[in-house]
Amino acid sequence: GDDELDRRITAARQALGSRVVILGHFYQRDEVIRHADFVGDSFQLARAATQRPEAEAIVFCGVHFMAETADLLSRPDQAVILPNLAAGCSMADMADIDSVTDCWEQLAEVYGTEPDAEGRVPVLPVTYMNSSAALKGFCGENGGIVCTSSNAAAVLEWAFKRAQRVLFFPDQHLGRNTAKAMGVPLEQMPLWNPRKDLGGLAEQELLDSRVILWNGFCSVHKRFTVAQIEKARAEHPGVRVIVHPECPMPVVDAADEAGSTDYIRKAIAAGAPGTTFAIGTEVNLVNRLAAEHPEHAIFCLDPVICPCSTMYRIHPGYLAWVLEGLLEGDVRNRITVADATAGSARTALQRMLAVRP
Ligand code: 13P
Ligand code: SF4
Repeated sequence: GDDELDRRITAARQALGSRVVILGHFYQRDEVIRHADFVGDSFQLARAATQRPEAEAIVFCGVHFMAETADLLSRPDQAVILPNLAAGCSMADMADIDSVTDCWEQLAEVYGTEPDAEGRVPVLPVTYMNSSAALKGFCGENGGIVCTSSNAAAVLEWAFKRAQRVLFFPDQHLGRNTAKAMGVPLEQMPLWNPRKDLGGLAEQELLDSRVILWNGFCSVHKRFTVAQIEKARAEHPGVRVIVHPECPMPVVDAADEAGSTDYIRKAIAAGAPGTTFAIGTEVNLVNRLAAEHPEHAIFCLDPVICPCSTMYRIHPGYLAWVLEGLLEGDVRNRITVADATAGSARTALQRMLAVRP
């Protein structure tokens, strides 16, 4: 049962002591979060992976791309463990290295490679953290950078200092919402369809563009609608609506604020007692925030339960299994990024870590 698993995890953690550090993303279920040494958004957890160099193992309760990032940023002899190897991210899977390389080559034919009078190259690649290490490596190799939902605007500014435009993948919504807030007109953000020649775009559209958006999205955040926000406002006058920037643009526009999971957490913590919050992000986080803040009324905008199904694959049973494996000297479910991409992927991540939001 659940109590038995909880007891096994606690016992294994105690026996392992500082040999292991457990990281938990905000979207993990409570039964996992209660065992985490660090809880955070994807940016904070990337940082946390560097905080315990003495631990021989980092158990990452999150999804595959986060574990890869932890492997890239941690010490080489530290093992990063993903308790369930099936915990991927459907958005990250929407951009693969072959289609992005193909796009990049077509863009080079349209733009050439000559910098303009201000020394800005025609285009730089920017990948959302939610992407494979191979794509981070692609960015590192081509002068590009990684961003998360908490630093996307600062990263785009970094890129616009060096390039006339960016190719942004995989999440079209984060790209569009962020660039729009920076004043980039929608006409200058064409959507690239990887199944069509030139992404299905006219050459002039590409020449006029500032941000070329990849056609990816998060199936959890795509569910939020403007109608849900209108309903929340009608039923709860004065409600504060905060959504994640992976939501579609009309939803972000209709909300009061948009921000990363950590932004949402902090906004709620700093809210005047008695505030009603309607939140557009993963339900495990929303429910936990509601439990932690009885002084507010907090609910998820989507009335149908909307967990991230892959985050949810980190069942406590897997956590117990990998910890008990470590006790027996058996490193289960280790995630390692191949040497061929690790160097350049690390370069792209380090460029991000050096950007001050
Ligand atoms: P955060 O960077 O806000 O943690 O988001 C990660 C994620 O996967 C959101 O869907
Ligand atoms: Fe990926 Fe969406 Fe899940 Fe985040 S919530 S891990 S973007 S599928």
